[in-house]
Amino acid sequence: MPKINVAVLGVGDCCSSLVQGVSSYKNGDFVGIKFNDFGGYKPSDIEFTAAFDIDSLKVGKELSEAIFAKTNRYEKVNAVKPLGVTVQKGEVMDGIGEFLQNQIKVDKKPSVNVSEELKKSKTEIVINFLPTGAVQASKWYAEQAIKAGCAFINATPTEIASSKEWAARFEKAKLPLAGDDIMNQIGATILHKTLLEFLVKRGVKIDETYQLDIGGGVESLVTLEKARGDIKREVKRRAIQASVPYEIPIVAGTTDYVDFMRNTRDSYFWISGRYFNNTPVRIDITLRTVDAPNSSSILLDVIRGVKMALDKKVSGTIDTLCAYGFKKPPKFFSPTEAEKMVNEYIEGKRNR
Ligand SMILES: NC(=O)c1ccc[n+]([C@@H]2O[C@H](COP(=O)([O-])OP(=O)(O)OC[C@H]3O[C@@H](n4cnc5c(N)ncnc54)[C@H](O)[C@@H]3O)[C@@H](O)[C@H]2O)c1
Repeated sequence: MPKINVAVLGVGDCCSSLVQGVSSYKNGDFVGIKFNDFGGYKPSDIEFTAAFDIDSLKVGKELSEAIFAKTNRYEKVNAVKPLGVTVQKGEVMDGIGEFLQNQIKVDKKPSVNVSEELKKSKTEIVINFLPTGAVQASKWYAEQAIKAGCAFINATPTEIASSKEWAARFEKAKLPLAGDDIMNQIGATILHKTLLEFLVKRGVKIDETYQLDIGGGVESLVTLEKARGDIKREVKRRAIQASVPYEIPIVAGTTDYVDFMRNTRDSYFWISGRYFNNTPVRIDITLRTVDAPNSSSILLDVIRGVKMALDKKVSGTIDTLCAYGFKKPPKFFSPTEAEKMVNEYIEGKRNR
């Protein structure tokens, strides 16, 4: 199969996990993947062609080194050979929020011409890994992807795939788009949605639910800033609400940052409902995960799915990939429906 040329925006924890994962897959040492073959593509078909960041500890470094910069929290689990990609300076805009000012030193080099660099590197797909709340910057990079003729995967909660305006712009440019806000492989949202779907199917009346988490990743710190945290809370709330056919009170989001937890996240779930004869039922559980690798397995599928769309010249939002891989897709489907759709997409029974 041809290679899949991928550029990354933001060389943070998620990027580190993805790069380490692709590299370990190439060494034949791999667990935790759902589709070894996705439409004929293997994870080893992914090649990193360009990377952009603004952190002085990352800009100018080889990508294989930059992912292990001190400012990242996800640890080194695999050795990564040099990839032939140097991290270039992007545009800062609203990338650095209030809580990151003291953690990240913005590199002093001038920004590069991102769309030109994407073209020069023959990038086909751009993945947006900017922090939550980098709304302006995410949109600016989406613009650069369009200029360079690249498909776009938005792992962040900024509204791009779920915005009619942006979906139309990618459609017009004849480029595929997938987003928004990557759904973790075994993350809090998919577990919460699956539990609720199960309870609803069994005839339980759900009364209220919450999903609160604490973590030590940079993202947990970023989302403590009220405006940025509210973006994430609303995405989670809507994703969870989509699993219950009537309105219920839902509270979801990060409640604190605990530095020594590093990239670990503890999520606490509480579901309250009633079954036969109004009998109360409570579910109270904790999920402990490491954040960054939780995004990578699904991303490997989405990257390969977007490449299939490029091959078939299908453009605009790819509904199947959005529903399967993201918390805020343009159209919501239940986890069971999304699963069926993705299998049909791989088999070629669905185009988008
Ligand atoms: N499992 C997960 O971790 C998960 C799940 C769902 C969504 N996400 C989303 O993925 C995104 C990335 O998460 P992360 O944990 O890797 O974050 P992170 O904070 O570790 O990484 C963000 C990177 O972006 C860089 N950056 C900031 N502004 C920039 C700019 N203007 N241009 C270029 N680079 C810039 C930072 O220096 C940093 O390297 C977030 O938006 C998060 O909400 C992550």
